[in-house]
Amino acid sequence: MLVVVKSDYDDMSRTAAQIVSELVRKKPDCVIGFATGSTPLGTYKELIRLHREEGLDFSKVTTFNLDEYVGLPPSHPQSYHYFMWENLFKHINVDKRFVHIPQGMANDVELFCEWYEEKIEKAGGIDLQILGIGANGHIAFNEPGSSLGSRTRIKTLDELTKRDNARFFEKDEEVPKYAITMGVGTIMDAKELLLLASGSQKADAIKQTVEGPITALYPATIVQMHRKATIVCDEDAASLLTRKYSGYLS
Ligand code: PGA
Repeated sequence: MLVVVKSDYDDMSRTAAQIVSELVRKKPDCVIGFATGSTPLGTYKELIRLHREEGLDFSKVTTFNLDEYVGLPPSHPQSYHYFMWENLFKHINVDKRFVHIPQGMANDVELFCEWYEEKIEKAGGIDLQILGIGANGHIAFNEPGSSLGSRTRIKTLDELTKRDNARFFEKDEEVPKYAITMGVGTIMDAKELLLLASGSQKADAIKQTVEGPITALYPATIVQMHRKATIVCDEDAASLLTRKYSGYLS
């Protein structure tokens, strides 16, 4: 695992976008796993800039998003469909036929989850999976206690996650209780992982992920087992790492 510590959020975002853009240039028909949340927004802004100013071409890229809330239609401003189109997809030349985001309104969620797994496999697997991290150690919506071998499925959201999300909804009862999420095993099958973290509120999560014991109670710790995982974070998120030596490149 490579831990890259950058000075601040913008620097982190540029580094992450560079990793993504290098892949797109090297393999124009690559498969990218995208994440939602506030952390990757700067990375997406930089990818949009690279598309506009340097002609970074996404027309052959296939995308798979990590998760989506159950019960929110794609048009809902808090849905991850809406998030991805507003913050990235509509600003780049991605082909919408190649975009995959879990269907929060699927009639048969179980069948949908099987289909999603098959779709990833048929696309040749995910080349690069972008990840955020929850303050409770979740990756995607794999909350503490998630099986480290899990596949795409429906998950009940953790109390902490619901509290974190409540700010986006007018009423508490509107905050989704369930999500469809790629499993930890699905994420680990990606050929490369790129985990982003910014700010002191993520410092403990990064410390656990990099230096803590691997445990399902902290799903992000499984990243230690991945063959090619890069954590790009800012100094605040890296502030609790105790083994900051040259192995953590900046
Ligand atoms: P954030 O969320 O980027 O909004 O902090 C990350 C996550 O919960 O996975």
